[in-house]
Amino acid sequence: MALAAGFDPARIHMHGNNKSDEEILMAARAGVGNLVLDSFDEIERCERLLDAPMKALIRVTPGIKPSTHDFITTGQLDSKFGFGIADRLAARAIERVLASEQLDLVGLHAHIGSQIFELEPYRLAIAALGELAGDWCRVVDVGGGLGVAYTADDAPPSIDDYVDVKVRGVREVFGPGVRILVEPGRSLVANAGITAYRVGTVKEIPGVRTYVAVDGGMSDNLRPMLYGSRYEALIADRAGVEPDTLVTVAGMHCESGDVIVRDAMLAAPAVGDVLVTPATGAYGHAMASNYNGVTRPPVIFCAGGEARVVVRRETYDDLTARDV
Ligand SMILES: Cc1ncc(COP(=O)(O)O)c(C=O)c1O
Repeated sequence: MALAAGFDPARIHMHGNNKSDEEILMAARAGVGNLVLDSFDEIERCERLLDAPMKALIRVTPGIKPSTHDFITTGQLDSKFGFGIADRLAARAIERVLASEQLDLVGLHAHIGSQIFELEPYRLAIAALGELAGDWCRVVDVGGGLGVAYTADDAPPSIDDYVDVKVRGVREVFGPGVRILVEPGRSLVANAGITAYRVGTVKEIPGVRTYVAVDGGMSDNLRPMLYGSRYEALIADRAGVEPDTLVTVAGMHCESGDVIVRDAMLAAPAVGDVLVTPATGAYGHAMASNYNGVTRPPVIFCAGGEARVVVRRETYDDLTARDV
C-alpha cells in the first residue's frame, strides 16, 4: 500500500474493531504511528504477527452515552468497540499490553460518539479515562464527535469550546506532559459539501402529499434512512425565492423509506430543477453505494468561482469492472 504524498505514516492511527492479519501487517510495514487496540483477540493477533514492537493505544469505552442517535454512540459499556472501565476489561487490557514484547503501550483512546451537541460528556469521559492513568500514559486521544448544523435549528458548540473542554480536561486529569490527540471528522467537512440532484418527477397525491423525486437517494446519502437525520432542501436557482410548496423529497430507489427530506418547503418545484441539500460533506460520499445498480455521482471541489472534478462520475462499465 502506498500512502499519498505528504502523509507521514507515523502520524496515522489504525482504528477498527476487527483488524485483519493483513491490515495489521500493512500498518506495521507502512510505519503507522499507533495501533488503537480494540479487543483481546486483536492483542493476540498483534503478538503473533509483529516482529518489532509497535506503539499502541487502548481504546476505552468509558461508559458515557451522549445524546445522539444510538447507532453513532460508541462510548457506552454495551459497545462493539474497545474495553470497558466498569467491567474492568480496560484495566486487564492495560496489564496485558504492558507485559507484551510486541506492543509498546503509550496511551489511551476514547471516541464516545458522533454528532454530539453537548460538551459535558467529553469532560466525563476524560475523567473516567483518568481512572486508568499510569506512568506509561504519554498520549491521550479523545476522539472526534463535534456535531454540525444540518438545519437552521441545529446549534452545535463552537470549535473553540470543543477544543477547550478536551484540552483542559486532559491537562487537569493527566497533567501537563501528556500529548493530546483529537480526531474530528464530520465537523471538518460536513458544511463544506452540498449535494445537487436533478428533479425527475413531481407527484401530487391530492390532500395527502407531494413527492419530488430526484436522481439519487439512499445510495448517496444513507443518513436520513439510517439515523433519521434531518436535512434542508432548496431549488438551486430559486434560493432567494420564498418557498411555497410543502413536499417530500424522495430518492430513486426501490424502498418507500428512500426519503431524503420528509417535509421540505420548496419554491415551485418542477421537473428538471436542480435540488440542493446542504451539509452533505461528511458521511455522504464515504457511505455511498451502488444499490440498485446506481452509479455514484462525482465529487467536485469549488472555490473562487472555479470548479474541478476530484472524483469522476461512476460509469456502467465501472459497475461490472470487478465481475469475473
Ligand atoms: C475512532 C473514531 N474517531 C473519530 C471519528 C470521527 O468522528 P466525527 O465525525 O464524529 O468527528 C470516528 C467516526 O466514526 C471514529 O470512529
